[in-house]
Amino acid sequence: MKRLLPFAVLLLLLAPGCALVDPSPQAKVEQDVAAKLWLTNCAGCHGLNGQPSDTIARDLRNWPGSFQVLDSTLNTGPSVMPKFPEIDEASRHLLFDYIKKFH
Ligand code: HEC
Repeated sequence: MKRLLPFAVLLLLLAPGCALVDPSPQAKVEQDVAAKLWLTNCAGCHGLNGQPSDTIARDLRNWPGSFQVLDSTLNTGPSVMPKFPEIDEASRHLLFDYIKKFH
């Protein structure tokens, strides 16, 4: 029994990274993907958490818009905001969920 102890400890250490223990590894991955998209494409104007560093870009904290508004914003690129045709629909949904958490 004593010899099993190191293995038991090892298992406990590995457990947090294990898919069986993590309630939603998928959600974690999606959050990472959204954060990467946001940091690469949007944070330069809209800030890390939706608060822009200047007064030109829209403040997206507590943004009331729908997915349709985000979708058309990325298609049309209003004012100085560029278009983002390369961001596919699945990624747009991830970005939408990400933006909705800014407050
Ligand atoms: C070059 C700066 C710039 C970048 C980069 C940028 N935006 Fe914008 N964004 C703006 C500006 C400026 C507005 C306000 C446009 C207006 O009010 O006409 C805006 C508005 C918005 C709005 C509000 C639309 C509405 O009508 O309510 C959303 C949502 C948005 N941006 C999302 C994004 C996302 C997501 C990204 C990254 C994929 C992004 N923006 C990248 C400048 C930028």
